[in-house]
Amino acid sequence: MTERVLVTGGAGFIGGEVVAALAGRYDVTVLDSLSPQIHGDDPEASPLYRRVLGQCRFIRGRVEDASVLREAMEDVSYVIHLAAETGTGQSMYEVGRYARTNIQGTAELVELLTKHRADLPVKKVVLSSSRSIYGEGMYRCAEHGVVYPGPRKEDDLAAGFFQVRCPVCGSTAEVVPTTEECVPSPASFYAWSKLAQEQMLRLLLPPLGIPFTIFRYQNVYGAGQSLNNPYTGILSIFSKRMVAGLPINVFEDGAESRDFVHVRDVARLTASVLDSPASDGATVNVGSGVGISVLQVADMLRRLYDSTSEVSVSGDFRIGDIRHNVADVARAEDLCGFRPQVSLEDGLRELAAWAAEEIRAGAAGDDRYEASLAEMRSMGLMKDGRA
Ligand SMILES: NC(=O)c1ccc[n+]([C@@H]2O[C@H](COP(=O)([O-])OP(=O)(O)OC[C@H]3O[C@@H](n4cnc5c(N)ncnc54)[C@H](O)[C@@H]3O)[C@@H](O)[C@H]2O)c1
Ligand SMILES: [Zn+2]
Repeated sequence: MTERVLVTGGAGFIGGEVVAALAGRYDVTVLDSLSPQIHGDDPEASPLYRRVLGQCRFIRGRVEDASVLREAMEDVSYVIHLAAETGTGQSMYEVGRYARTNIQGTAELVELLTKHRADLPVKKVVLSSSRSIYGEGMYRCAEHGVVYPGPRKEDDLAAGFFQVRCPVCGSTAEVVPTTEECVPSPASFYAWSKLAQEQMLRLLLPPLGIPFTIFRYQNVYGAGQSLNNPYTGILSIFSKRMVAGLPINVFEDGAESRDFVHVRDVARLTASVLDSPASDGATVNVGSGVGISVLQVADMLRRLYDSTSEVSVSGDFRIGDIRHNVADVARAEDLCGFRPQVSLEDGLRELAAWAAEEIRAGAAGDDRYEASLAEMRSMGLMKDGRA
Protein backbone atom coordinates (compact mmCIF):
# COMPACT_ATOMS: atom_id res chain seq x y z
CA MET A 1 0.00 0.00 0.00
CA THR A 2 1.21 3.50 -0.80
CA GLU A 3 2.16 5.34 2.34
CA ARG A 4 0.44 8.58 3.24
CA VAL A 5 2.19 11.91 3.87
CA LEU A 6 0.54 14.93 5.49
CA VAL A 7 1.94 18.24 4.25
CA THR A 8 0.71 21.13 6.40
CA GLY A 9 0.89 24.42 4.51
CA GLY A 10 1.07 22.29 1.37
CA ALA A 11 -0.67 24.91 -0.78
CA GLY A 12 2.13 27.40 -0.11
CA PHE A 13 5.12 28.26 -2.22
CA ILE A 14 7.43 25.55 -0.90
CA GLY A 15 4.53 23.19 -0.11
CA GLY A 16 3.43 23.06 -3.75
CA GLU A 17 6.88 21.89 -4.85
CA VAL A 18 7.07 19.41 -1.98
CA VAL A 19 3.70 17.95 -3.01
CA ALA A 20 4.96 17.69 -6.60
CA ALA A 21 8.12 15.94 -5.37
CA LEU A 22 6.03 13.43 -3.37
CA ALA A 23 3.33 12.80 -5.97
CA GLY A 24 3.42 9.34 -7.48
CA ARG A 25 5.54 7.95 -4.64
CA TYR A 26 3.18 8.73 -1.77
CA ASP A 27 -0.47 9.35 -1.14
CA VAL A 28 -0.50 13.06 -0.16
CA THR A 29 -2.87 14.92 2.17
CA VAL A 30 -2.57 18.71 2.37
CA LEU A 31 -3.90 20.73 5.30
CA ASP A 32 -3.84 24.45 4.52
CA SER A 33 -5.93 27.43 5.63
CA LEU A 34 -5.43 29.23 2.28
CA SER A 35 -4.39 32.38 4.10
CA PRO A 36 -5.50 35.51 2.14
CA GLN A 37 -2.07 37.11 2.57
CA ILE A 38 -0.64 34.31 0.41
CA HIS A 39 -3.58 33.20 -1.70
CA GLY A 40 -5.50 36.47 -2.19
CA ASP A 41 -9.06 37.33 -1.30
CA ASP A 42 -10.50 34.64 -3.55
CA PRO A 43 -8.35 31.70 -2.45
CA GLU A 44 -10.26 29.21 -4.61
CA ALA A 45 -8.70 31.04 -7.58
CA SER A 46 -5.18 30.99 -6.12
CA PRO A 47 -2.74 29.48 -8.63
CA LEU A 48 -0.73 27.95 -5.78
CA TYR A 49 -3.85 26.21 -4.50
CA ARG A 50 -4.98 25.10 -7.95
CA ARG A 51 -1.56 23.62 -8.63
CA VAL A 52 -1.79 21.11 -5.77
CA LEU A 53 -5.49 20.31 -6.06
CA GLY A 54 -5.20 17.38 -8.47
CA GLN A 55 -2.19 15.93 -6.64
CA CYS A 56 -3.52 15.48 -3.12
CA ARG A 57 -6.44 15.10 -0.78
CA PHE A 58 -6.99 18.72 0.21
CA ILE A 59 -8.35 19.80 3.59
CA ARG A 60 -8.94 23.49 4.16
CA GLY A 61 -8.34 24.22 7.81
CA ARG A 62 -5.97 25.58 10.40
CA VAL A 63 -3.18 23.55 12.00
CA GLU A 64 -4.03 24.90 15.42
CA ASP A 65 -7.54 23.46 15.11
CA ALA A 66 -7.06 20.09 16.86
CA SER A 67 -10.16 18.44 15.38
CA VAL A 68 -9.35 19.23 11.75
CA LEU A 69 -5.73 18.26 12.35
CA ARG A 70 -6.86 14.91 13.75
CA GLU A 71 -8.89 14.32 10.60
CA ALA A 72 -5.91 15.22 8.40
CA MET A 73 -3.65 12.81 10.35
CA GLU A 74 -5.73 9.73 9.56
CA ASP A 75 -3.46 6.88 8.41
CA VAL A 76 -0.51 9.23 7.96
CA SER A 77 2.99 7.72 8.02
CA TYR A 78 4.94 10.95 7.63
CA VAL A 79 4.27 14.61 8.49
CA ILE A 80 5.99 17.47 6.69
CA HIS A 81 5.12 20.53 8.77
CA LEU A 82 5.36 23.68 6.65
CA ALA A 83 2.28 25.68 7.70
CA ALA A 84 3.41 29.00 9.12
CA GLU A 85 3.04 32.73 9.02
CA THR A 86 6.31 33.87 7.51
CA GLY A 87 6.64 37.68 7.55
CA THR A 88 9.61 38.63 9.69
CA GLY A 89 8.74 42.32 10.08
CA GLN A 90 5.02 41.70 10.36
CA SER A 91 5.58 39.19 13.18
CA MET A 92 6.80 42.05 15.38
CA TYR A 93 3.30 43.49 15.72
CA GLU A 94 0.90 40.71 14.61
CA VAL A 95 2.30 38.72 17.51
CA GLY A 96 -0.85 36.83 18.49
CA ARG A 97 -1.49 35.72 14.96
CA TYR A 98 2.08 34.41 14.58
CA ALA A 99 1.85 32.66 17.93
CA ARG A 100 -1.44 30.95 16.98
CA THR A 101 -0.21 29.46 13.73
CA ASN A 102 3.46 28.87 14.41
CA ILE A 103 3.48 27.98 18.09
CA GLN A 104 -0.04 26.76 18.89
CA GLY A 105 -0.20 24.91 15.54
CA THR A 106 2.98 22.96 16.28
CA ALA A 107 1.90 22.37 19.88
CA GLU A 108 -1.39 20.82 18.70
CA LEU A 109 0.47 18.61 16.24
CA VAL A 110 2.80 17.30 18.91
CA GLU A 111 0.00 16.90 21.46
CA LEU A 112 -1.97 14.83 18.99
CA LEU A 113 1.01 12.56 18.43
CA THR A 114 1.40 12.23 22.19
CA LYS A 115 -2.23 11.45 22.99
CA HIS A 116 -2.92 9.20 20.02
CA ARG A 117 0.38 7.37 19.74
CA ALA A 118 -1.42 4.01 19.61
CA ASP A 119 -3.67 4.82 16.66
CA LEU A 120 -1.51 7.28 14.74
CA PRO A 121 1.25 5.32 12.99
CA VAL A 122 3.50 8.35 12.31
CA LYS A 123 7.06 7.27 11.48
CA LYS A 124 8.72 10.65 11.05
CA VAL A 125 8.15 14.40 11.29
CA VAL A 126 9.99 16.87 9.07
CA LEU A 127 9.99 20.53 10.09
CA SER A 128 10.75 23.54 7.90
CA SER A 129 12.65 25.78 10.25
CA SER A 130 14.54 28.83 9.18
CA ARG A 131 18.01 30.35 9.20
CA SER A 132 16.39 33.34 10.89
CA ILE A 133 16.78 31.55 14.23
CA TYR A 134 20.53 32.36 14.05
CA GLY A 135 20.02 36.11 14.03
CA GLU A 136 23.26 37.54 12.69
CA GLY A 137 24.87 34.09 12.62
CA MET A 138 28.58 33.27 12.85
CA TYR A 139 31.38 35.81 12.52
CA ARG A 140 35.12 35.85 13.10
CA CYS A 141 36.96 38.50 15.07
CA ALA A 142 40.70 38.84 14.37
CA GLU A 143 41.31 38.74 18.11
CA HIS A 144 38.47 36.63 19.53
CA GLY A 145 37.95 33.98 16.87
CA VAL A 146 34.43 32.73 16.13
CA VAL A 147 31.80 34.95 17.74
CA TYR A 148 27.99 35.10 17.75
CA PRO A 149 27.06 38.78 17.60
CA GLY A 150 23.64 39.97 18.73
CA PRO A 151 21.51 42.39 16.72
CA ARG A 152 23.30 45.44 15.37
CA LYS A 153 22.80 48.67 17.34
CA GLU A 154 20.37 51.22 15.99
CA ASP A 155 22.91 54.00 16.61
CA ASP A 156 25.42 52.27 14.31
CA LEU A 157 22.81 51.74 11.61
CA ALA A 158 21.57 55.33 11.84
CA ALA A 159 25.17 56.51 11.49
CA GLY A 160 25.56 54.43 8.31
CA PHE A 161 27.75 51.77 9.94
CA PHE A 162 26.15 48.52 8.77
CA GLN A 163 28.94 46.07 9.59
CA VAL A 164 28.70 43.58 12.42
CA ARG A 165 30.80 44.14 15.51
CA CYS A 166 32.57 41.56 17.65
CA PRO A 167 30.43 41.24 20.81
CA VAL A 168 33.60 41.09 22.93
CA CYS A 169 35.76 43.98 21.66
CA GLY A 170 33.44 45.90 19.33
CA SER A 171 35.75 45.81 16.32
CA THR A 172 34.42 44.86 12.87
CA ALA A 173 33.97 41.09 12.52
CA GLU A 174 34.05 39.10 9.26
CA VAL A 175 31.19 36.85 8.23
CA VAL A 176 31.86 33.08 8.09
CA PRO A 177 29.42 30.40 6.86
CA THR A 178 27.00 29.68 9.70
CA THR A 179 26.96 26.07 10.89
CA GLU A 180 24.10 24.35 12.70
CA GLU A 181 26.13 24.69 15.93
CA CYS A 182 25.68 28.46 15.89
CA VAL A 183 24.13 29.75 19.11
CA PRO A 184 20.53 30.76 18.22
CA SER A 185 19.72 34.44 18.56
CA PRO A 186 16.32 35.14 17.01
CA ALA A 187 15.84 38.81 16.13
CA SER A 188 12.13 38.70 15.31
CA PHE A 189 9.06 37.05 16.74
CA TYR A 190 8.86 34.96 13.56
CA ALA A 191 12.40 33.66 14.18
CA TRP A 192 11.65 33.02 17.82
CA SER A 193 8.53 31.06 16.85
CA LYS A 194 10.54 28.88 14.44
CA LEU A 195 13.05 28.15 17.21
CA ALA A 196 10.13 27.28 19.50
CA GLN A 197 8.87 24.82 16.86
CA GLU A 198 12.29 23.16 16.74
CA GLN A 199 12.53 22.91 20.49
CA MET A 200 9.05 21.43 20.82
CA LEU A 201 10.05 18.62 18.47
CA ARG A 202 13.38 17.99 20.23
CA LEU A 203 11.71 17.95 23.62
CA LEU A 204 8.54 16.00 22.93
CA LEU A 205 9.19 13.55 20.08
CA PRO A 206 12.09 11.45 21.47
CA PRO A 207 9.98 10.08 24.37
CA LEU A 208 7.45 8.93 21.77
CA GLY A 209 10.15 7.28 19.67
CA ILE A 210 9.19 9.37 16.63
CA PRO A 211 12.21 10.39 14.52
CA PHE A 212 12.36 13.89 13.09
CA THR A 213 14.49 16.02 10.80
CA ILE A 214 14.70 19.78 11.21
CA PHE A 215 15.63 21.75 8.12
CA ARG A 216 16.78 25.33 8.39
CA TYR A 217 15.97 26.78 5.01
CA GLN A 218 17.90 29.83 3.83
CA ASN A 219 16.32 32.27 1.32
CA VAL A 220 14.12 30.02 -0.79
CA TYR A 221 13.16 31.44 -4.18
CA GLY A 222 11.62 30.38 -7.47
CA ALA A 223 8.68 30.66 -9.82
CA GLY A 224 5.51 30.50 -7.76
CA GLN A 225 6.80 32.55 -4.84
CA SER A 226 4.28 35.07 -3.60
CA LEU A 227 4.29 38.28 -5.58
CA ASN A 228 1.52 39.61 -3.35
CA ASN A 229 3.05 39.36 0.07
CA PRO A 230 4.92 42.64 0.56
CA TYR A 231 6.34 41.51 3.88
CA THR A 232 8.66 38.83 2.52
CA GLY A 233 10.86 38.18 -0.47
CA ILE A 234 13.11 40.87 -1.92
CA LEU A 235 13.15 39.09 -5.28
CA SER A 236 9.36 39.53 -5.56
CA ILE A 237 9.50 43.14 -4.45
CA PHE A 238 12.29 43.98 -6.90
CA SER A 239 10.52 42.07 -9.68
CA LYS A 240 7.28 44.00 -9.41
CA ARG A 241 9.02 47.34 -9.32
CA MET A 242 11.39 46.48 -12.16
CA VAL A 243 8.62 45.34 -14.49
CA ALA A 244 6.79 48.62 -13.75
CA GLY A 245 10.01 50.65 -14.17
CA LEU A 246 9.70 51.97 -10.60
CA PRO A 247 12.83 52.98 -8.68
CA ILE A 248 14.46 50.38 -6.44
CA ASN A 249 15.50 51.34 -2.95
CA VAL A 250 18.32 49.05 -1.84
CA PHE A 251 18.58 49.23 1.93
CA GLU A 252 21.77 49.80 3.94
CA ASP A 253 24.83 50.00 1.65
CA GLY A 254 23.75 47.19 -0.70
CA ALA A 255 26.53 44.86 0.48
CA GLU A 256 24.22 42.92 2.80
CA SER A 257 24.04 39.35 1.50
CA ARG A 258 21.65 36.43 1.29
CA ASP A 259 22.02 32.71 0.55
CA PHE A 260 19.47 31.94 -2.19
CA VAL A 261 18.42 28.34 -2.69
CA HIS A 262 15.99 27.25 -5.38
CA VAL A 263 12.61 25.90 -4.29
CA ARG A 264 12.94 22.71 -6.37
CA ASP A 265 16.22 21.88 -4.64
CA VAL A 266 14.60 22.50 -1.26
CA ALA A 267 11.55 20.38 -2.11
CA ARG A 268 13.59 17.51 -3.51
CA LEU A 269 15.68 17.35 -0.35
CA THR A 270 12.66 17.68 1.95
CA ALA A 271 10.82 14.85 0.21
CA SER A 272 13.92 12.63 0.08
CA VAL A 273 14.46 12.19 3.82
CA LEU A 274 11.15 10.52 4.71
CA ASP A 275 12.36 6.97 4.27
CA SER A 276 16.05 7.60 4.92
CA PRO A 277 17.20 7.39 8.54
CA ALA A 278 20.56 9.19 8.02
CA SER A 279 19.12 12.55 9.05
CA ASP A 280 16.98 11.27 11.94
CA GLY A 281 17.33 13.60 14.92
CA ALA A 282 19.46 16.02 12.89
CA THR A 283 19.19 19.75 12.30
CA VAL A 284 20.33 20.60 8.80
CA ASN A 285 21.00 23.87 6.96
CA VAL A 286 19.51 23.98 3.47
CA GLY A 287 21.13 26.60 1.29
CA SER A 288 23.53 27.12 -1.58
CA GLY A 289 26.46 27.86 0.72
CA VAL A 290 27.10 31.09 -1.20
CA GLY A 291 26.27 34.61 -0.03
CA ILE A 292 25.28 37.08 -2.73
CA SER A 293 24.87 40.80 -2.08
CA VAL A 294 21.49 42.44 -2.45
CA LEU A 295 22.99 44.93 -4.89
CA GLN A 296 24.39 42.09 -7.02
CA VAL A 297 21.05 40.35 -7.15
CA ALA A 298 19.30 43.64 -8.01
CA ASP A 299 21.70 44.07 -10.94
CA MET A 300 21.14 40.51 -12.14
CA LEU A 301 17.37 40.96 -12.05
CA ARG A 302 17.51 44.35 -13.74
CA ARG A 303 19.34 42.80 -16.66
CA LEU A 304 16.95 39.87 -16.85
CA TYR A 305 13.92 42.18 -16.93
CA ASP A 306 15.73 44.61 -19.21
CA SER A 307 14.31 47.18 -16.81
CA THR A 308 14.70 50.96 -16.78
CA SER A 309 14.30 51.07 -12.98
CA GLU A 310 16.84 53.20 -11.22
CA VAL A 311 18.59 51.16 -8.52
CA SER A 312 19.81 53.31 -5.65
CA VAL A 313 21.40 52.47 -2.35
CA SER A 314 19.53 54.48 0.27
CA GLY A 315 21.08 53.74 3.64
CA ASP A 316 17.54 53.09 4.91
CA PHE A 317 17.35 50.16 7.26
CA ARG A 318 14.85 47.94 9.00
CA ILE A 319 15.12 46.94 12.63
CA GLY A 320 15.59 43.17 12.81
CA ASP A 321 17.19 42.72 9.37
CA ILE A 322 20.41 40.78 9.42
CA ARG A 323 23.58 41.82 7.63
CA HIS A 324 24.76 38.63 5.96
CA ASN A 325 23.43 35.19 5.36
CA VAL A 326 25.71 32.39 4.23
CA ALA A 327 25.04 28.85 5.37
CA ASP A 328 27.55 26.11 5.95
CA VAL A 329 25.90 23.28 4.00
CA ALA A 330 28.37 20.46 4.67
CA ARG A 331 25.91 18.57 6.86
CA ALA A 332 23.21 18.52 4.17
CA GLU A 333 25.70 16.96 1.82
CA ASP A 334 27.12 14.51 4.39
CA LEU A 335 23.79 13.25 5.74
CA CYS A 336 21.47 13.68 2.77
CA GLY A 337 23.78 13.78 -0.24
CA PHE A 338 22.41 17.23 -0.99
CA ARG A 339 23.93 19.38 -3.70
CA PRO A 340 21.90 22.20 -5.21
CA GLN A 341 21.15 21.54 -8.87
CA VAL A 342 19.71 24.90 -9.91
CA SER A 343 22.28 27.69 -10.30
CA LEU A 344 21.32 31.22 -9.26
CA GLU A 345 21.61 32.38 -12.89
CA ASP A 346 19.23 29.70 -14.14
CA GLY A 347 16.88 30.06 -11.20
CA LEU A 348 16.63 33.84 -11.55
CA ARG A 349 16.08 33.57 -15.32
CA GLU A 350 13.21 31.16 -14.73
CA LEU A 351 11.81 33.34 -11.94
CA ALA A 352 11.99 36.47 -14.10
CA ALA A 353 10.25 34.81 -17.07
CA TRP A 354 7.45 33.62 -14.83
CA ALA A 355 7.12 36.81 -12.78
CA ALA A 356 7.13 39.13 -15.80
CA GLU A 357 4.17 37.26 -17.24
CA GLU A 358 2.29 37.22 -13.92
CA ILE A 359 2.90 40.90 -13.29
CA ARG A 360 1.95 41.99 -16.83
CA ALA A 361 -1.21 39.89 -16.63
CA GLY A 362 -2.11 41.76 -13.45
CA ALA A 363 -1.97 38.56 -11.42
CA ALA A 364 0.38 40.09 -8.89
CA GLY A 365 -2.18 42.52 -7.45
CA ASP A 366 -1.59 46.10 -6.36
CA ASP A 367 1.82 47.11 -5.25
CA ARG A 368 1.31 47.11 -1.50
CA TYR A 369 5.01 47.54 -0.94
CA GLU A 370 4.96 51.28 -0.20
CA ALA A 371 2.05 50.78 2.19
CA SER A 372 3.90 47.99 3.98
CA LEU A 373 6.96 50.22 4.41
CA ALA A 374 4.78 53.03 5.77
CA GLU A 375 3.24 50.55 8.18
CA MET A 376 6.68 49.42 9.32
CA ARG A 377 7.79 53.05 9.68
CA SER A 378 4.79 53.83 11.86
CA MET A 379 5.71 50.89 14.10
CA GLY A 380 9.25 52.26 14.45
CA LEU A 381 10.70 49.25 12.57
CA MET A 382 11.90 51.09 9.48
CA LYS A 383 14.25 54.08 9.51
CA ASP A 384 15.54 56.49 6.92
CA GLY A 385 19.25 56.51 6.18
CA ARG A 386 21.46 59.55 6.57
CA ALA A 387 21.48 60.28 2.83
N1 LIG B 1 10.34 30.87 1.82
C1 LIG B 1 11.45 30.90 2.53
O1 LIG B 1 12.44 31.52 2.10
C2 LIG B 1 11.56 30.17 3.83
C3 LIG B 1 12.78 30.24 4.54
C4 LIG B 1 12.89 29.58 5.75
C5 LIG B 1 11.83 28.82 6.24
N2 LIG B 1 10.66 28.78 5.54
C6 LIG B 1 9.58 27.99 6.13
O2 LIG B 1 9.03 27.14 5.13
C7 LIG B 1 7.65 26.97 5.35
C8 LIG B 1 6.86 27.28 4.10
O3 LIG B 1 7.14 28.60 3.69
P1 LIG B 1 6.61 29.21 2.32
O4 LIG B 1 7.64 30.16 1.84
O5 LIG B 1 6.13 28.13 1.42
O6 LIG B 1 5.39 30.08 2.87
P2 LIG B 1 3.91 30.25 2.27
O7 LIG B 1 3.31 31.37 3.03
O8 LIG B 1 3.95 30.32 0.78
O9 LIG B 1 3.19 28.91 2.69
C9 LIG B 1 2.65 28.69 3.95
C10 LIG B 1 1.30 28.04 3.77
O10 LIG B 1 0.76 27.82 5.08
C11 LIG B 1 -0.60 28.18 5.06
N3 LIG B 1 -1.00 28.57 6.41
C12 LIG B 1 -0.73 29.73 7.08
N4 LIG B 1 -1.25 29.68 8.32
C13 LIG B 1 -1.85 28.47 8.44
C14 LIG B 1 -2.56 27.83 9.48
N5 LIG B 1 -2.77 28.43 10.65
N6 LIG B 1 -3.04 26.59 9.26
C15 LIG B 1 -2.85 25.96 8.08
N7 LIG B 1 -2.19 26.53 7.05
C16 LIG B 1 -1.69 27.76 7.24
C17 LIG B 1 -0.72 29.32 4.06
O11 LIG B 1 -2.06 29.41 3.54
C18 LIG B 1 0.29 28.91 3.01
O12 LIG B 1 -0.31 28.16 1.97
C19 LIG B 1 7.29 27.86 6.54
O13 LIG B 1 7.27 27.05 7.70
C20 LIG B 1 8.43 28.84 6.62
O14 LIG B 1 8.63 29.27 7.96
C21 LIG B 1 10.50 29.43 4.36
ZN1 LIG C 1 36.77 40.78 19.20
